[in-house]
Amino acid sequence: MKQEYDVVVVGAGLAGMRAAISAAQKSKDLSIAIIAKTYPIRCHSVCAEGGTAAVLRDDDSYDLHAWDTIKGSDFLADQDAVEFFVRECPKEILRLDNWGCPWSRLKDGRIAQRAFGGHSVNRTVFAADRTGFHEVHTLYEKMVSYDNVEIFPEHFLTNLFIEDNKVKGVATINLKNGELVAFESKAVILATGGAGRLYGFTTYSHQVTGDGIAIAYRNGLPLKDMEFFQFHPTGLVPSGILMTEACRGEGGYLINKEGERFMKRYAPEKMEIAPRDIVSRAMWREIIEGRGFESEFGPYIALDLTHLGEEKINERLPLIRDAAKKFVGIDPVEEPIPVRPVAHYTMGGIHTNIKTETPVAGLYAAGECACVSIHGANRLGSNSTIECLVFGNVAGNMAAEYALRNGRMKITSEEIAIEEKRIYDSILGKSGDENPYQIKKELNETMDKNVWIFRTESELKDAVAKIKELKERYKDVEINDTRKGFNTDLLSTMEIGYMLDLAEVVAIAALKRTESRGAHYRLDYPKRDDVNWLKHSMAYYTPDGPRFEYIPVTITKWQPVERKY
Ligand code: FUM
Repeated sequence: MKQEYDVVVVGAGLAGMRAAISAAQKSKDLSIAIIAKTYPIRCHSVCAEGGTAAVLRDDDSYDLHAWDTIKGSDFLADQDAVEFFVRECPKEILRLDNWGCPWSRLKDGRIAQRAFGGHSVNRTVFAADRTGFHEVHTLYEKMVSYDNVEIFPEHFLTNLFIEDNKVKGVATINLKNGELVAFESKAVILATGGAGRLYGFTTYSHQVTGDGIAIAYRNGLPLKDMEFFQFHPTGLVPSGILMTEACRGEGGYLINKEGERFMKRYAPEKMEIAPRDIVSRAMWREIIEGRGFESEFGPYIALDLTHLGEEKINERLPLIRDAAKKFVGIDPVEEPIPVRPVAHYTMGGIHTNIKTETPVAGLYAAGECACVSIHGANRLGSNSTIECLVFGNVAGNMAAEYALRNGRMKITSEEIAIEEKRIYDSILGKSGDENPYQIKKELNETMDKNVWIFRTESELKDAVAKIKELKERYKDVEINDTRKGFNTDLLSTMEIGYMLDLAEVVAIAALKRTESRGAHYRLDYPKRDDVNWLKHSMAYYTPDGPRFEYIPVTITKWQPVERKY
């Protein structure tokens, strides 16, 4: 089956919905399809908790936000992109305010802002600790007010159609009936999110399997800086549920088993609200050196909010109180919460320029699946939801303009038949001896053990060898459910295939980068090496594994210096 639209947006989280709105606003004559693996309001963006950064006050400036972001990135961010980004952030906050987002307010009615890691001033706008939830609902309500936007929920991306380096559309499975649906379109925006389920201990929803990133990679697009994976300091033990950085922004402490606020030894000025790479490393070191608490679910550090008082916790951190009570039976008003660092964010992604353009004409990428790059080697908390809004808006405008200037290229019935054969004969119909879920389990264990916060050559080599073994075994998987309709076995198996490709890129990129920068910390190369490594890695697909090239980082006015907090 084939559908025809002017603009197709894949992914209905913050970046995707923001893009669809911009495209719809550009011209009511454009037809826009937004395709989502789940339903828009069940996207992973709803899990964003603590806030969204923007300069809104006189004690702040664009240069200060840019500097914090660039220093936080360990100087790997492209500074022209960051300078553009910080100027757009306030516009997005006010736009969402206008569209009804219930931002938390000060008593005088101004939008409230809280402290977040690595930001020099209180810059993080929030809606209690359910910021993503409210942003998603605000965008959804706005998006459905446009007659020219049509939503296709429960459609799973399987491929891109590209000819002569121009995009022609995408292939999806309609999960409800299992039929292949091709969307022919003038422009395509990928807004498919990150790849956090490569890891087992993670804050990500189960749906975040890097589909769009892997499909772009398999279609020849370069992936940038994939070795940089963010570990958030405070994942609830044992589930990994995010205990927002706002806990510390609002004044919470991190305590080791000796009762010490140990961050004074790692970041004496910023303490618990140093950037995430630094806090996560500090926590892990405390754990390795035996100063963590022990539990049946492994070691942990105590996140202590008890001194904040019930009133503040109820007002600013209601979700945290609720989640801690429900998932570990702890009321943070009374007792500290058990936490340890957790996989949280994919800093790398599909290579784009500042306008969200990929190297393929008509194909754009925005949000976590893209790497512009504004986060470099370490993203600052609350710079992600705002990135989705800023670059979602850019992508929507760019794609709409492209669609107004260009015609649609045909997706032929032969091309659709080839994709159907690939999925229904080569994957669904295949018999084999391997269980895909066992492969996923082993992949997660490998990433959690060998491609974690502290990395070494030998562990990374082991990871690469294991991933290669899993890729071989994956060729022999069997999918037990052979029906077409709602075949979650087929869906999961395809997702695991995407994750294996991406894990290989992450591990090999990490092995090659013989320095420590931001979230990528090599125990065997503990220093940042600007002479050899102030550059972006670009991974290109080959059947034997990724091939790497490197491109320079754009420096405008901030020269790299030592990061101290
Ligand atoms: O801790 C948090 O609320 C996460 C925010 C972010 O990743 O930006």
